[in-house]
Amino acid sequence: MIKKILIDCDPGVDDSLAILFALYRKDVEIAGITTGIGNVTAAQGAENALRILKLAGAEDKIPVCAGAECTIAGETEEFPEFIHGKNGIGNVELPESQQKTVEKDVCDFIYEKACQYEHELVLVLLGRMTNIANTIKKYPDFSKKIKQVVAMGGAVGTFGNVGPEVEANIGGDPEAADIVVQAAWDVTMVGLDVTMNTHLRMQDVEEACRYCREECRPVLEFAKNELEYYMEGARKQNWMRGCCPFHDPLAMIVAVNPGVVFTQKRITRIECNGKYTRGKVVTDLREYPIEGRYVTHCLQVDSVRALNEFFAVFQ
Ligand code: RIB
Ligand code: CA
Repeated sequence: MIKKILIDCDPGVDDSLAILFALYRKDVEIAGITTGIGNVTAAQGAENALRILKLAGAEDKIPVCAGAECTIAGETEEFPEFIHGKNGIGNVELPESQQKTVEKDVCDFIYEKACQYEHELVLVLLGRMTNIANTIKKYPDFSKKIKQVVAMGGAVGTFGNVGPEVEANIGGDPEAADIVVQAAWDVTMVGLDVTMNTHLRMQDVEEACRYCREECRPVLEFAKNELEYYMEGARKQNWMRGCCPFHDPLAMIVAVNPGVVFTQKRITRIECNGKYTRGKVVTDLREYPIEGRYVTHCLQVDSVRALNEFFAVFQ
């Protein structure tokens, strides 16, 4: 069965790996790509998505729509240039695409896709949840049309990456994330508990470049080049050597094969206040928990299997 996926992202080195994995996966149809502020501006993210599609031979095949340039509260902040580079893809220059972005309000675009693929569409969220929260606000019946939401974000039982207990996608727009986890739909969060425990190694990327199908070589060479920058960022941020965390691609893998993770459903809210905890994912296991909906959290991962799933699509 072909999975229909809409990717909302902020490309982003790891976002680009997730997009490429989905593109080459035979059981996935990408219904559209939307972008929001995060690693770069939404406009730059959309430009990156267009160029990645062109590189993969998918120019004009998948619509791309740029969305929110600020959080739901109207805030902007500095981009993490030391992780994703100035242009978001490790400062690698890709050839321009002739494809143009869809000139629509991103909420209208997302809602139209939800109607087109009613009860079939899986939303894979790889950045802040601003576009999705805005769509929920604009279209009250939106959540009922969606099959599932799989989101890279949060840190449940581990430390954060932008605050002591806060992960970037949730910390970047906590109010938006709280709207998303409170909506009436099936949400799975793929957080740092599993993405930090899955290490993408340069050695494996280089091997993949050697042994891949001929048509995949340009995209893997691109991945290798942008990962050189990203892994240097992982060295500075996490003291990792010759490898990096596997954030957004792991979320995409969970969307197509949930068997790579062990999960638990917990009542969940997002902390929207707090000097040190704004953006923390709060889960409540008590008998009489806080008010909130159940969200599925990924707590453990079979990282070998997840990485094999990733590389398999290029073989
Ligand atoms: O915390 C990791 C997340 O933040 C990833 O989605 C990465 O692309 C950045 O946006
Ligand atoms: Ca991302």
